[in-house]
Amino acid sequence: MKEQMTAVQAFVMNFLELSVLLLAFALGIGLLAIAYMYVVDITQKEQTIRRNYPVIGRFRYFFEHLGEFFRQYFFALDREELPFNRAQRSWVYRAAKNIDSTVAFGSTNPLNIPGDFIFLNGLFPPLDEEVNGRSPIHFGQGFARIPFCTTSFFNISAMSFGALSAPAISALSFGAKGAGIWMNTGEGAISPYHYEGQCDIIFQIGTAKYGVRDVQGRLSDDKLRDIASHENVRMFEIKLSQGAKPGKGGILPAAKVTQVIASTRGIPVGESSISPNRHPDIHNLDELLTMIHRVREITGKPTGMKCVIGQSEWLDEFCQKVHERGMDYAPDFITVDSADGGTGAAPQSLIDYMGLPIKRSLPMVVDKLNEYGLKGRIRVICSGKMINPAGVAAALCLGADCVNSARGFMFALGCIQALQCNKNTCPTGITTHDKDLQRGLDPTDKALRVTSYASNLMHEVEVIAHSCGVAEPMLLGRQHAQIINEQGLPEAMSDVYPDVATLPQYLRTGQ
Ligand SMILES: Cc1cc2nc3c(=O)[nH]c(=O)nc-3n(C[C@H](O)[C@H](O)[C@H](O)COP(=O)(O)O)c2cc1C
Repeated sequence: MKEQMTAVQAFVMNFLELSVLLLAFALGIGLLAIAYMYVVDITQKEQTIRRNYPVIGRFRYFFEHLGEFFRQYFFALDREELPFNRAQRSWVYRAAKNIDSTVAFGSTNPLNIPGDFIFLNGLFPPLDEEVNGRSPIHFGQGFARIPFCTTSFFNISAMSFGALSAPAISALSFGAKGAGIWMNTGEGAISPYHYEGQCDIIFQIGTAKYGVRDVQGRLSDDKLRDIASHENVRMFEIKLSQGAKPGKGGILPAAKVTQVIASTRGIPVGESSISPNRHPDIHNLDELLTMIHRVREITGKPTGMKCVIGQSEWLDEFCQKVHERGMDYAPDFITVDSADGGTGAAPQSLIDYMGLPIKRSLPMVVDKLNEYGLKGRIRVICSGKMINPAGVAAALCLGADCVNSARGFMFALGCIQALQCNKNTCPTGITTHDKDLQRGLDPTDKALRVTSYASNLMHEVEVIAHSCGVAEPMLLGRQHAQIINEQGLPEAMSDVYPDVATLPQYLRTGQ
């Protein structure tokens, strides 16, 4: 009996020992696997989140993948997230990674959402050998000493160095060069990172005139000349307002004003950088036209202006004044920004309620320029949530010459819409100056994504244009699209926005 007990005890002991050994072995393997994943994650350069948050960052991709299967039961649908929904973002991520952009089974777009656009396909679309290459878009030809010409109708919108990190600017610069598109500096002046990729650059003159101000904060002709002497700086844009915060100057929180940003802008380190609500030296339309003329004369390069449209009576007076003072005083382009445009930081009342959305303001500006015979002289650029091909194609139908995007390119850089641009805590390193968080953003890899996104987007706008039966996107017009009305039915774009230039005389003048 005693012997039997000892045998049982020995068996139990052996079993326990073996279990402990197995557990220790499994734990060891687990720890080794975690260590291995840790090393792989911090050394890989494709996924910022995994690089910044090794091992646990993997759960994001795992859950994102699971979401495809579970969201029909638990979570938001494809088109419910804001400001950009999953369908819109996924398109950008796929285009940026240059992976298959086709989708299966059928559309999740219900085709009855008021305000949405749909395009009208032609019965006989052009064959591949019948389509055109991209037409050149000229800026300032005949007016600027060094005009600018591009074939790119989709470009990087203004985002300042300050709002964006150094590696993000660097990736955008190289990526823009790869795709043959321009990048706009935003109001935070120009840094060495902008020049790195040798892309076309639009220098923005903000209300604080960062980068081109003298000691009193006034526009310095010498500094303008110096910036213009850089070959890559192709045009100048005088910023009057932006869609997210019309009537409010740029806001860069103190936490983001580092040494290098302070020296680029010419301001003190660690103090919030707040620009005036408007250019102190531009009180009226005459002063605006004088400023445009002055910048073009000094720099020799095309000069335009950016604004969001709110009250719009000034458009008539503006066009009349251009005729009175002569075409030398006209802007070479107007960038029309949408009320729902993005920003690094803005008061919520302005972000949510101020200014007109691009659907209203773009046709208004295009029609006004047409009405006064100025559309040939002044190019129209527009921006506002056009991050997918359909939005860009719709803007071209409405009469835009080019479309700019800011947040589309942020997604291409790896933005996950964490909505922390104003906090210096952006988990993807794009809008933070925290070196630990920036470490995950590899400019070389992200530059390729920027290039692929822009190239794939323009390609797919061409696909839409060809389906509409025209040989290139620049031939798209209002006859090629319809807008879903309040009843959920498509209505001709040319009925909703009759092109003033094509209206009969009695409708135009009321006589
Ligand atoms: C992070 C960030 C910074 C921005 N900085 C500027 C700026 O310095 N100047 C400006 O005119 N617009 C600025 N914008 C606005 C964009 O240029 C653009 O007009 C607006 O976001 C609409 O484009 P989107 O919808 O593609 O983002 C900024 C936008 C973002 C998201």
